[in-house]
Amino acid sequence: MATTPAVSSRQRQVEEDLVRIVLASFDDTPDPRLKELMQALVRYLHDFIREVRLTEAEWQHTIDFLTAAGHITTDHRQEFVLLSDALGASMQTMNVNHEATACATEATVVGPFFVEGSPEIPTGGDMAAGAPGEPWWVEGTVTDTDGNPVAGARLEVWEADEKGLYDVQYADGHLAGRAHLYTDSTGRYAFWGLTPTPYPIPHDGPVGRLLDKTARSPLRASHLHFMATAPGLRTLVTHIFVEGDHLLGADAVFGVKDSLVKRFERQPAGTPTPEGRYLADQTWTRVRFDIVLAKASQAGGGEPRAIHA
Ligand code: BEZ
Ligand code: FE
Repeated sequence: MATTPAVSSRQRQVEEDLVRIVLASFDDTPDPRLKELMQALVRYLHDFIREVRLTEAEWQHTIDFLTAAGHITTDHRQEFVLLSDALGASMQTMNVNHEATACATEATVVGPFFVEGSPEIPTGGDMAAGAPGEPWWVEGTVTDTDGNPVAGARLEVWEADEKGLYDVQYADGHLAGRAHLYTDSTGRYAFWGLTPTPYPIPHDGPVGRLLDKTARSPLRASHLHFMATAPGLRTLVTHIFVEGDHLLGADAVFGVKDSLVKRFERQPAGTPTPEGRYLADQTWTRVRFDIVLAKASQAGGGEPRAIHA
């Protein structure tokens, strides 16, 4: 219940009466889950309005903000997802639906840059596809929570280039910095990518202005996105983050989990590489990420959304 210390008992009565009437207006909702959601939303919304004594100008400002978010949203730009991400709502929904099960790898936000139709690469292939950045060797295994290797698991991987941009943020429509591959018969996978670097979430719209007004940075900690799927196992959407990144504690969308922070080993130029690729003039990094998938029957939420950035 809202704390409304400054109001008279008559005023409190007026406000509480309205809450009761609005709640009752949903009493006949045929779908019980929709009824629960709408009545809880009304309770929390009215509590919020009453607790902060929301002014009419502030409510109008909120409507204007949401209108601007609607106007900037297109098939390629989803401002409401950014708002959800920046408020921690995406991450909290992920937490609620992906309770840590046994030793399964933890999930984190999908973000707006996953797109269907990535190219397939073989084990040891290069998902960078010409995108600029420092070469990065990523390897690991996929197992279930009993430690059995998962052969043929599908891994989708996607990341920004060293300029902080995903391929879909360029106007020319090229595909780079994204791919899918499958684990081999022993559950192993390996590929080349780009050492992740920090980049800002799109901040040229209302969400960016909100971040600015609240003295928050739009930067995300450096990361690579993974989506792992295998029959009978729970789909995992996650990232790996870079140990030592100064943004680990200040990720704009609250996506960092300690278990997902990995040690990157930087190799001097000329160091022989795992797949015989010779990088004479360039440093490169390597990381290991072993993925553990929960059984589909273990508690958890639904499939991730596929959003075109
Ligand atoms: C991303 O990691 O790609 C991302 C996540 C949330 C908002 C914007 C970008
Ligand atoms: Fe990302």
